[in-house]
Amino acid sequence: MPGIVVVGAQWGDEGKGKVTDLLAERADAVVRFQGGNNAGHTIVRNGRTWKLHLIPSGILHSGKLCVIGNGVVIDPRVLTDELGELRRTGVDTSALRISANAHLIMPYHLMLDHAGEARLGKLQIGTTRRGIGPCYADKAARLGIRVQDLLDEKILKQKIIVALEPKRLSLRPYAKDPALDLQAMAEEYLTYGHRMESYTADTTRLVHEQLDAGAVVVFEGAQGALLDIDHGTYPFVTSSNPVAGAACIGAGVGPRDISEIWGVAKAYSTRVGAGPFPTEIDGPLADLLREHGGEYGTTTGRARRVGWLDLVALRYAARINSMTALAITKLDVLSGLDRLQICTGYRGAEGAEFDHFPYHQSVLHHATGEYVELEGWAEDIGECRSESDLPACARDYVSFISEFIGVPVVLLGVGPGRDQVIWTGASDHTAVAAEHATTAS
Ligand code: GDP
Ligand code: IMO
Ligand code: MG
Repeated sequence: MPGIVVVGAQWGDEGKGKVTDLLAERADAVVRFQGGNNAGHTIVRNGRTWKLHLIPSGILHSGKLCVIGNGVVIDPRVLTDELGELRRTGVDTSALRISANAHLIMPYHLMLDHAGEARLGKLQIGTTRRGIGPCYADKAARLGIRVQDLLDEKILKQKIIVALEPKRLSLRPYAKDPALDLQAMAEEYLTYGHRMESYTADTTRLVHEQLDAGAVVVFEGAQGALLDIDHGTYPFVTSSNPVAGAACIGAGVGPRDISEIWGVAKAYSTRVGAGPFPTEIDGPLADLLREHGGEYGTTTGRARRVGWLDLVALRYAARINSMTALAITKLDVLSGLDRLQICTGYRGAEGAEFDHFPYHQSVLHHATGEYVELEGWAEDIGECRSESDLPACARDYVSFISEFIGVPVVLLGVGPGRDQVIWTGASDHTAVAAEHATTAS
């Protein structure tokens, strides 16, 4: 103890990478527990930008144990490229460990993701097309190939044959694709296996050892609560559980190993891909926020949809995660707006009002935000380092959020740089933040 979980509280891209990198400074290990390279986590340090997809956001802290847990789905081509790229730029990757039980994204998963989206046409989910859904589907169907299978050619080939059999029909358009040739696929994946071998480990045990020794372990989530396959806006979701509870399953620990749960939310909302988004805005204001906030996907480069902060959804995210602390990022992006809208309820079809996140898809699809208007601020806040440096209206905006959802705001983001943060007075509620705050002041 303690285990600290960092999760996205919206539709992803909230700034989890930056928050994890900050917490990693005082932690002993960082563990990714779900998702795959659909994630794109950005860290900006000393003017340099790092975009991580699979490797935990603690990797820039040389020698710190970084674990890719059993709950992650790994595209080994992407992972070995990411490792190579980090090494080329002088990052020490020797403390990375990969779960032997993590499932592998295979070439046919990418094809099935593409084919599935094409088949859905106008109804498509807007996936990242990285093969995530088909890989988790095979995991659930017990047809998955795991990291440990790469160490034995015979087992690997057998498992590929068994996994391909029920997919013959869907893969027919790709029948002649050389990537589907059994021998070629096995050889390619065996090569990845060799490259990953020295990193492969029983990561569950490694994490237990850390926790039992009293180390601080950060569990880094990917995506966000509203993309959760059970609790999000199904079917417009990802195929894993990005909520805090999944840290236990995706790393192999129990709920009592978790002592803090940090939700990360932007000061407004964004979403990539299709699906309901009650506070979405478009037109010149949306363009302005998108440009100010650099709202283009880290993984796919797609323009993110933008909207006002949705407190109905955020309060729901706080509850399903049992969030103990909230980090609000990108407050600086709102600078210069005269009036800020903040959603505190939904109005559905025929005027029905909702103050809870609706469980029914038809209700949610028709829901629009009911807003409270708050005064904005003109000042650039990128240099603010304490709450008292902030304009009063920015402080009011943050207090409104915290009071509405009932979770203390411990950290504010005022720019992309790792130093562009404010540790708030509430940070002494949390062990790690308190240490940071003391150092910062
Ligand atoms: P993640 O997927 O949750 O890790 O988030 P992404 O990295 O996909 O997207 C967040 C983006 O916002 C990145 O480009 C970050 O560099 C940037 N960012 C993070 N915090 C702040 C902040 O407080 N202000 C601004 N302006 N940018 C931020
Ligand atoms: P990070 O970790 C934002 C979205 C996709 C799509 C849906 C399903 O950077 O916050 P998938 O490829 O997972 O089957 O796509 O989920 N999505 C994300 N959106 N940030 C992410 O990750 C995302 N990962 C998946 O856009 O709508
Ligand atoms: Mg991202």
